[in-house]
Amino acid sequence: MSVPAKPRASPLSESMLSPLVPARLSLAPDGTPVSEIYGDVYHSAGGGHTQARHVFLAGNGLPARWRGRDSFAILETGFGLGLNFLATWLAWRNDSRRCRTLRFVSLEKHPFAAADLAMAHAAWPEFADLSERLRRRWPPLVAGEHEIGLDGGDVDLRLVFGDAAETLPRLDGAVDAFYLDGFSPAKNPELWSPLVCRNLARLAGQGATLATWSVAGGVRRALGAAGFAVEKRPGFAGKRQMLAGHRAGGGNS
Ligand SMILES: C[S@@+](CC[C@H](N)C(=O)[O-])C[C@H]1O[C@@H](n2cnc3c(N)ncnc32)[C@H](O)[C@@H]1O
Repeated sequence: MSVPAKPRASPLSESMLSPLVPARLSLAPDGTPVSEIYGDVYHSAGGGHTQARHVFLAGNGLPARWRGRDSFAILETGFGLGLNFLATWLAWRNDSRRCRTLRFVSLEKHPFAAADLAMAHAAWPEFADLSERLRRRWPPLVAGEHEIGLDGGDVDLRLVFGDAAETLPRLDGAVDAFYLDGFSPAKNPELWSPLVCRNLARLAGQGATLATWSVAGGVRRALGAAGFAVEKRPGFAGKRQMLAGHRAGGGNS
């Protein structure tokens, strides 16, 4: 069994990256958070927490795959409102057989201010305590890396603020599970690009898996060309299908 190295980056400082444009919280008429920049919703209208569990956790075989491990590393494209992170943290806390350390690296070009997160998270009472703890440690909206130790350091959240096209190539380490959660590939193609997919493959540890709600042909081709084997699975809510995959031929360790 491989023991993943902590995903590390060569120090990413603000001066190396383009300045940040923070996100602003807006709601669609049905109450779903929507991005004014991308013209797309942050999660399925069917529910952010349930989507996280169905697509990202179950799609990566979690929580089962972190059991018996010393540490388990997840990398997410698009932290957004942090719902996938909160769902993962909650599932980890509720699992008596969890790995000792959960490492969660998330890339975000347009981070929210803590006050916006508080407003958005109010829709999920089950996250109230974790949301508050996250927001107490929320970093300034400055490009670069922000490491947040939670649960006494057993949960290691690393927020990488900046454009993934700039930040992803500078990361290293061995990732066990990828959450691919950009906006729709038609509206946010740069987060699903061949460059991004190649860098994900470079970071894939032994047995690494991925999951995403998108089954777009361009996404499947870019992931396939980068070395991931992908398959369609039943999707969540309005989506007939989703994608799950693994790094074909192993990965780095
Ligand atoms: C669908 S939302 C993610 C939702 C999130 N995973 C959650 O659990 O709340 C997509 C996110 O990708 C971010 N994003 C879009 N393009 C990006 C890029 N080039 N680099 C980094 N983040 C990007 C957006 O700002 C947005 O927050």
